[in-house]
This record gives sequence, C-alpha cells and structure tokens, in this order.
Amino acid sequence: MSPAWRCLVAFALLASPLAAVSQTASVPAFEDSIEQRMKACVVCHGERGGGVANAAFPRLAGQPANYLAAQMKAFRDGVRTYAPMNFLMARQTDAYLDEIAAWLAAQKPDGGVVEARRRFTPDPAAMTAGEALVRNGRPDAGLPACSACHGADLNGTMPGIPALAGMPRDFLIEQVGSWKTGAHRSPEPNCMAQIAQRMSGADIVAAATWLALQQPTGLPTRRSGPLPLACGSE
Ligand code: HEC
Ligand code: HEC
Repeated sequence: MSPAWRCLVAFALLASPLAAVSQTASVPAFEDSIEQRMKACVVCHGERGGGVANAAFPRLAGQPANYLAAQMKAFRDGVRTYAPMNFLMARQTDAYLDEIAAWLAAQKPDGGVVEARRRFTPDPAAMTAGEALVRNGRPDAGLPACSACHGADLNGTMPGIPALAGMPRDFLIEQVGSWKTGAHRSPEPNCMAQIAQRMSGADIVAAATWLALQQPTGLPTRRSGPLPLACGSE
C-alpha cells in the first residue's frame, strides 16, 4: 500500500467513533476504546505500535510518553512535517494526544521486526563502524556517544529521549540527515542538529545499519548525571 492509501485507511479508522453513532442497533456496538482507535496506526507503525520490518516507519511502542506526545503535537502544529502525520494529527487536542502517548508508551516493541531484518546480510564494515560510533562517539570531533543520551542499551532515557534500538535503518538515516540539513527542527538548544553536523554521510549510514539490527531489550531507563550536550527537548 502506498503511503497515501495507508493514510486514507488510517484517517477513516481514527474518525470511526463518529460513524459508529449513526449505526443501527442490529450492528454490534463499536467498541470506542483507545485500543480500537489505534488500529488507525497499524498499517504504518505495526500492531500496538510495535514496529514494521520493511519500511521507514518508526516503532512507537515503549517510547517515552513525553517524547511521543511532543512529536504528535509538533506534527499537529506543523513544526515537524510528514504530510500523512500532519493530516492525522490536525485538530487533535493536547489531552487526546497525551492519552495516545501514554497508551503507546505502555506497549511492548515487536521483537519479530528486528528478526525479519536479519534475512539481509548487512555490510560488515558498516556494522563495525556503526557500533563504535554509537557506543564511543568520536571525542576528537566533539561527537558524543549516542548511548550517553539514548541509554547504554539504546532503549531511550526518561523523561524524553527516544529509543534507537531496532528502529528502521531508512527512518534513522532520514531523521539524522534532516537534522544535518536543518529540515528537522527541535527545541533549542537543538543537540541532535549539532550531532548530525558532526557526522559524515557514511557515519549516518553506519550508525543506522547497526542500530536497525539491535533488539529492543526493555523500557527507557532514568539517566543519572548530566547530558554531554544541552538538549532543549529534555
Ligand atoms: C501513512 C503512514 C502512517 C500512519 C497511518 C501513521 N503514521 Fe505516524 N509516522 C509515520 C512516519 C513515516 C513517521 C516519521 C515521519 C518523519 O519522517 O518525521 C511517523 C511518525 C510518528 C511519530 C513520531 C515517532 C518518532 O519516533 O519520532 C508518532 C508519535 C506517530 N507517528 C504516531 C502515529 C499515530 C498515533 C498514528 C495513528 C493515529 C500514526 N502515527 C499513523 C507514518 C504514519
Ligand atoms: C546530547 C544527547 C544526545 C546524543 C549524544 C545523541 N542524541 Fe539523538 N536525540 C537526543 C534528543 C534530545 C532527541 C529528541 C529530539 C527531539 O525532541 O526532537 C534525540 C532524537 C534522536 C532521533 C530521533 C528518533 C525518533 O524516534 O524520532 C534519532 C534517530 C537520533 N536521536 C539519533 C542519534 C544518533 C545516531 C546519535 C549518535 C551519533 C545520537 N542520536 C546522539 C539526544 C541525543
């Protein structure tokens, strides 16, 4: 299904509680629960937000609730742009988006998503370089380790830094690439833009290749100690 079709299906589902009102008594009652409404997201984000193997769509399950809520509000307000997401989030209230974020944060990532990617053999040089960059950074270039903020296990850190483990490679490349070009705006100081500017194209591909094959192992942890760079969204 193309992204445009996926979006139309999703919009119909997200709006379906209204349609349910006009149904006759002979039709089984529509269960208007958050779980039902989140079926609108399955085509792109997987069952219960658990992720999909073969597309540039991020997993949502188990991400910090604060982070998910902030991103949905950024799409709604046009600060972050991806047309289907802008369309779906338009006119949703803060309270509804906070409720969705809390539900998604409590779901488990789908481990099968990462396993399905292992059918392809990644470039071994990119895997080695990617792991070194993620775990150690490059201190002489002012590039901190990704794990210093995203967590030793890359499951994300509370209150608002997202997990990177098991995110799709193309999604990771696109996000970091768009911070590098300035297309992706985050609250100032925009630490991810500074980090992206200190990475080459090959660095971004290497880190993304390795990260996409890491199994998420749990929920975000609470950090102790300061971040290596100030981040406005924390
Ligand atoms: C047509 C496919 C599609 C549908 C349907 C869709 N999304 Fe998305 N969503 C995306 C893509 C692609 C991105 C990443 C966009 C970008 O490049 O910034 C995204 C990003 C997000 C993010 C930010 C995640 C992150 O890690 O940065 C959240 C939260 C989100 N979507 C929630 C939802 C919810 C909730 C629904 C259902 C109501 C939904 N999405 C439906 C495609 C979709
Ligand atoms: C100084 C702390 C810090 C470091 C170091 C860091 N990040 Fe981040 N990262 C963040 C913050 C904060 C966000 C959330 C940005 C926002 O709110 O828009 C983020 C978001 C991201 C996202 C978006 C994920 C999603 O689900 O939307 C990606 C991808 C990412 N970082 C990749 C990396 C990579 C790769 C590295 C290492 C090269 C790295 N980060 C190092 C703080 C950091």
